[in-house]
Order: sequence, then C-alpha cells, then structure tokens
Amino acid sequence: MKLTPEQLQDKWNEVIELITDTFDGERKDNILKMYEFFKDRMMFTPASGVVYYHNAFPGGYVCHILNVTKFALRLYELYEELGLHTSEYNKENIIFCTLHHDLGKVGNLEYDYYIPNESEWHRINQGKMYGYDENLHYMTVTDRSVWLLSQFDIKMSEIEYLALRLTDGMYEEANKGYFMGYGENKNLKTNLPYLLHNADSLATRWEKEQYMFSSDSDIKYEEIFNTELKVEREREEAEAVENMKQALVKDETPDILSEKSKDLFNELFGDMIRELLKQMMK
Ligand SMILES: [Fe+2]
Repeated sequence: MKLTPEQLQDKWNEVIELITDTFDGERKDNILKMYEFFKDRMMFTPASGVVYYHNAFPGGYVCHILNVTKFALRLYELYEELGLHTSEYNKENIIFCTLHHDLGKVGNLEYDYYIPNESEWHRINQGKMYGYDENLHYMTVTDRSVWLLSQFDIKMSEIEYLALRLTDGMYEEANKGYFMGYGENKNLKTNLPYLLHNADSLATRWEKEQYMFSSDSDIKYEEIFNTELKVEREREEAEAVENMKQALVKDETPDILSEKSKDLFNELFGDMIRELLKQMMK
C-alpha cells in the first residue's frame, strides 16, 4: 500500500485534530509539542517492518494509531452494552493509550526505529521492507513509548499506564504476571488494558487483511474461499500465454492481444528478446 502526500497530510491532520479535541491544559500543550517535534519523522513511520504483518509502509504508524482509536471507541460502546465495568475510565483515557501505545516505533529523539531496507531482494522476495537502526539501545516498543512521553513531561494516570503497558496482552512474555497473577489482589482492577489489547489486536488484523486480500499478496487468500476466482485467474493467464505465443510468430501484435497481455509480454521479453525469439522460431 502506498499513501499519496495528500493522504499522509490528511492522516496527520486527523491525529492533530483528535489531540486538540480530546486533551486539555498542560497535557494537551505537551502532547502537541511532542507531535511537532516528531512531525517530519512520525508522518513517514511504518507500523511494522514486514509487508505481511501490518502497515509496513510510510504513514503506516499514523494509520495504525487512528485505526486502533476507531476500534477502541467502538469496543468501548460494546463493553458498556455488554455490562463490562467501564466507569473508571473515559474517552480521554482510551485515546491517550491508543495514540501512544506504539510510540516507541518512532525511535528515540535522534534516530528512527525503522530504516528502509536497501536490499531489493529482501523487499521483493521476503517482504522485509524495513530494518532496525542499530544506533538505538535495545528496548521494547512499550518501554520506549513511556520513556519518550517522559521526555516531553507528558503525565499519565495509573490506569492509563497499565493499559498502555499491557496493550500487547499475552503476546508479550513480561505481561504474564499482570494477566495470570495468582491471588485475588492481583486481578486487574480495570478493563482498560483488555479494551486496548482487543482494539490493537483487531485493528492490526484488519490492517493485515488489507494486504492479504490485495493484489500485493503472494498467497491468493481470496481464492482459498472462492475457487471460481482461481478458475478465472488461471483462464486469464492461459489466454495471456496464448496471446504471447501468437505475438511471437507475427510481425504485428495481433488485435486479439489484450492490453494486459501486451503489458505482460513487454515486461517479460522486451523488444530485444522478442526479436531474438522470433528469429529462433523461424
Ligand atoms: Fe499497535
């Protein structure tokens, strides 16, 4: 997926508007200062480094935090409807966590966390679009998020900290003690970490599906559930091959050669190889 410069700007404006509408006072000022500081880097940060994980493209991070916010606010309504306890937090608490749970993916004050992979082979064959800047100290994304917030004097409540800290749920080994603590006093006393984890998991899955069911995907997921699509694709491919065969033995490209086949033909053979093949077939 590729965002246009206008789309990148629109997504950025959406984040700034969300901050302006949600927060107040000193916290709002400090959050806005942090976004101003990171603007030129954060706008282009991806949400992951691998194409089949999620949002591994410039702007992917900003799209991700907006998606997690959207999912979290809808889940908040569902939590209330289902009777899950929600009185200890509000929309501001939710949005603070959705916007900052992955903040560490931006990097530190100097260096980006993700750097574009210069190896075309790895990008094309393994989908590894980004590597990691080795100048950075090893730190979990969550720890770096908390550290970065502290650099801009952005305070958070105890419940916000817990939710932000536990957004990865049981995917993070270190979170086990919070979710599996034995003893009544170790039960999580708030649902906000569950809400954040649910929203982050579902938004990530949604983002992953945008890749899975697109033409960029190596695996034809759509065809697994709809065999008619597979039959149709194979028919089109066979027709393209047949058109190419005909084009090889004729001076002019035949009328029946579809635009798609022409493109494919030119991409595969080019003029020079085409001439060579014609000579060989005489
Ligand atoms: Fe996330």
